[in-house]
Amino acid sequence: MKNILLILGSPRDRASYSHQIGRRVVDDLKSRYPSAKVVVRNLAKEALPDVDEGFVTGRVLAPDKRSAAETEALALSDVLVAELIAADVVVLATPMHNFGISASVKKWIDQIVRPGVTFSYSDKGPMGLVQGKKTVLVLARGGVYSEGPMKPYDFQEPYLRTVLGFIGMTDVEVIRIEGVAMGDDAVRNAVTSAKAQADAVVRVIASGASVPVLAEAA
Ligand SMILES: Cc1cc2nc3c(=O)[nH]c(=O)nc-3n(C[C@H](O)[C@H](O)[C@H](O)COP(=O)(O)O)c2cc1C
Repeated sequence: MKNILLILGSPRDRASYSHQIGRRVVDDLKSRYPSAKVVVRNLAKEALPDVDEGFVTGRVLAPDKRSAAETEALALSDVLVAELIAADVVVLATPMHNFGISASVKKWIDQIVRPGVTFSYSDKGPMGLVQGKKTVLVLARGGVYSEGPMKPYDFQEPYLRTVLGFIGMTDVEVIRIEGVAMGDDAVRNAVTSAKAQADAVVRVIASGASVPVLAEAA
């Protein structure tokens, strides 16, 4: 494994459950693959810009057709896309905010979903161009959404699976930290469960299941 990308999407950083578990996955992978390079995007600490007019007009033009302002508006996006494409494993940690993802993660998605770059249209419909990598979603929620009456309110996991799948990231593992707003016992149970899920995900990755680039570590 050469590259691991960790996207951190909570404003709470060290107190954040999703960050804690996301870092646990990455630390464990790093100990198994010491030569792997880890890139961390802490989206609360380095806030990404909203897409602006130059971004919107420039993203559908070939690079040599863009104005200087459009090129400038897409420069950070080009960096974010390059580090995404280089990653063998992407760990995306996000809180549930109002049934969806955090606003900072939405900004990252707006930067990396790019026609002609991370997806293309063909006669057969849209095709994702970000392929051959494992994605780990680390999802923290105050309530419980994996089952029960709140399940239809979950626009966090289905949205991420849909938009990341659209750009080709279909090999997805999910770690859920649920019910953290339901008292101390619930927090303890949620964190214990999430750690076990994280360890299981790392074992899957280390086994090389459906991730050919990891075969070197077997
Ligand atoms: C602005 C905001 C909106 C939230 N919306 C929801 C929600 O819709 N459903 C839910 O279960 N929890 C919600 N929560 C609780 C968080 O999902 C929960 O505290 C989670 O642990 C945050 O993730 P983190 O620990 O990684 O920061 C919300 C919290 C905040 C601050």
